[in-house]
Amino acid sequence: MSHVEVEHVTKRFDDVVAVDDVSFTAAEGEFVSLLGPSGCGKTTTLRMIAGLEMPTEGTIRIGGEDVTDQPAYEREIGMVFQHYALFPHKTVGENVGFPLKMRGVPAERRRERVAEVLDRVRLPDVMDRSPEELSGGQQQRVALARALVFEPDVLLMDEPLSALDRVLREQMRVEVQRIQREFDITTIYVTHDQAEAFAMSDRVAVLDDGHLSQQGRPLDVYENPTSEFVASFIGESTKLSGPVVDREGRRVLETDAGVTLTLPEPVPPAGDRLTVYLRAEKLSLSAEPTGAANEFPATMTTTNYLGEKTQFFCTLEDGTELVVAEQGFTALDRYDQGDTVYVTIPPSDLVVAHADVAAEQPAVDESVV
Ligand SMILES: Nc1ncnc2c1ncn2[C@@H]1O[C@H](COP(=O)(O)OP(=O)(O)OP(=O)(O)O)[C@@H](O)[C@H]1O
Ligand SMILES: [Mg+2]
Repeated sequence: MSHVEVEHVTKRFDDVVAVDDVSFTAAEGEFVSLLGPSGCGKTTTLRMIAGLEMPTEGTIRIGGEDVTDQPAYEREIGMVFQHYALFPHKTVGENVGFPLKMRGVPAERRRERVAEVLDRVRLPDVMDRSPEELSGGQQQRVALARALVFEPDVLLMDEPLSALDRVLREQMRVEVQRIQREFDITTIYVTHDQAEAFAMSDRVAVLDDGHLSQQGRPLDVYENPTSEFVASFIGESTKLSGPVVDREGRRVLETDAGVTLTLPEPVPPAGDRLTVYLRAEKLSLSAEPTGAANEFPATMTTTNYLGEKTQFFCTLEDGTELVVAEQGFTALDRYDQGDTVYVTIPPSDLVVAHADVAAEQPAVDESVV
């Protein structure tokens, strides 16, 4: 059963439509991420679930109950924000115990409960310290403990890790996920970081300019984007478009970049214009032609060693930039600038943009030109 239901919710601020007819659900104990670029309406959606913002239209239900008109303090919701929002002049214990104090829990019981929750977020022995003496990651654990201490029904988090440095952020992903599982609490998590959403969530809902673009399990959204926005926003890829044509008894995509590609089944009818995305990690490189399907030449421009992967930037005949990613360390001197390389992608690894969305594309491009 759905625990949190957001149904046809719209939020307007004067003439800005921040959230436009968005619907999604989170099941009991599920971890759902709202993923999308800056300004797409993630925070506004979360604030409406919390009751900090009222929808212009639509319904929000928690545990089957319509809470659309209920004020925030009547909803049992824990919230964690990007900036820890801890009270600097209170101790860690007072910070974490604050929601209990507001609910009239006696001091002794409060202290016990605070110690217990701090223990569960792996922060024992900091109860009497000031939050300012703690590291960013520790402060975020305190914020999480404060959000969970009163056993809320739902946990909402708005970019809670974005103020941390990369290494800590990746450690905290695992930690937040562990805590969420342990508390078994329905969680809605806002982020613009795709890797974060994919690593942590049971399901992701991708927002684009106030609209819900796609929702599903991370793998499904990654492998089968249903809109051009999701296909380009998720992952690192090169976009190629062109007409589908019949050539020598085969139906292929003749891209405007001069590369001819065999398409995965079902192949669309000849005459259609189609857009495909070539995921960087699905492409392979070789110095000589290998004769594989979907092989085409490119010119090497730069090699970028990033530690966990190596990026190769190449250009196609018409100047289109193409990026290829290989896991781990690859010899940097393998290719020189200006070398001709051969790129391949198996037809089944091509991400085909949703046909009707792709068809609208030329009109958009013309209006820009
Ligand atoms: N109180 C407000 N008054 C007017 N416009 C607002 C208000 N809050 C948000 N907006 C607008 O609504 C849109 C969505 O904003 P929102 O903060 O929900 O985006 P977001 O996805 O959280 O972005 P970010 O990743 O930058 O935090 C933006 O265009 C924003 O300017
Ligand atoms: Mg935001």
